[in-house]
Amino acid sequence: MDGNGRWARRRHLPRVAGHRAGVRAIRPVMEACDRAGVHILTLYAFSTENWSRPRHEVAALMQLFGETIESEVDELHANGVQIRVIGDRTQLSERLQRKVAEAEGITARNTSAVLNVAINYGGRREIVSAIRELAARGVDLAQLDEEMVSRALYTAGLPDPDLIVRTAGEMRVSNFLLWQSAYAELYVTDTLWPDFGETSINEALHAFSRRERKFGAVPERAPAAVIETLGSPVG
Ligand code: FPP
Repeated sequence: MDGNGRWARRRHLPRVAGHRAGVRAIRPVMEACDRAGVHILTLYAFSTENWSRPRHEVAALMQLFGETIESEVDELHANGVQIRVIGDRTQLSERLQRKVAEAEGITARNTSAVLNVAINYGGRREIVSAIRELAARGVDLAQLDEEMVSRALYTAGLPDPDLIVRTAGEMRVSNFLLWQSAYAELYVTDTLWPDFGETSINEALHAFSRRERKFGAVPERAPAAVIETLGSPVG
């Protein structure tokens, strides 16, 4: 959800005002996703690296997470949305952990959509913690396979993301869903997150619909001659 700070700076507002505007941007994006048939959405709200921001900004963000989860849970529940917080929650305040657990508990059996909120999330940490958990369960690590790791991640049971949208022109993956994004399509837009509304998400989805996804294979629609060339040693 990049660009909140820049959005605020352009308006001579404190960065926290940008984060508040960032919260307001969520609902139209979720609604547009729902209309487009996208029923799993992950918001990267706070990374394991974001603790290095000024203390007052971190505190304001934590406050915002608690307030937003609390104020939105009933409506999300009424709409059949399951809320999941992914990330290392042990570092969150007990109060926030309680709110998170409550929201997850209320919405646990919903099946219309899934909203993952990544808080204190880091892809590397997620993979390490999955492997530690498997080792602690007594799994023979010599027998480890990809399916076992996938099932031990925070996103267990969910399909891998098809599309990753990066706002504010950032061209990095930034430790986001490292394992799960192996074949995700990346879409980068200069639009700042608080300005990223229905039009922007529809543009991203349209761009995605035009991508040819090969998953490492030869494209199905490729002309026979191309397949021939790829299949035979050069020269
Ligand atoms: C990155 O923009 C944004 C964040 C670190 C915080 C995003 C969090 C929210 C919008 C709150 C969401 C709340 C819930 C419950 C999902 P930045 O500050 O790095 O902006 P910049 O790149 O312009 O400086």
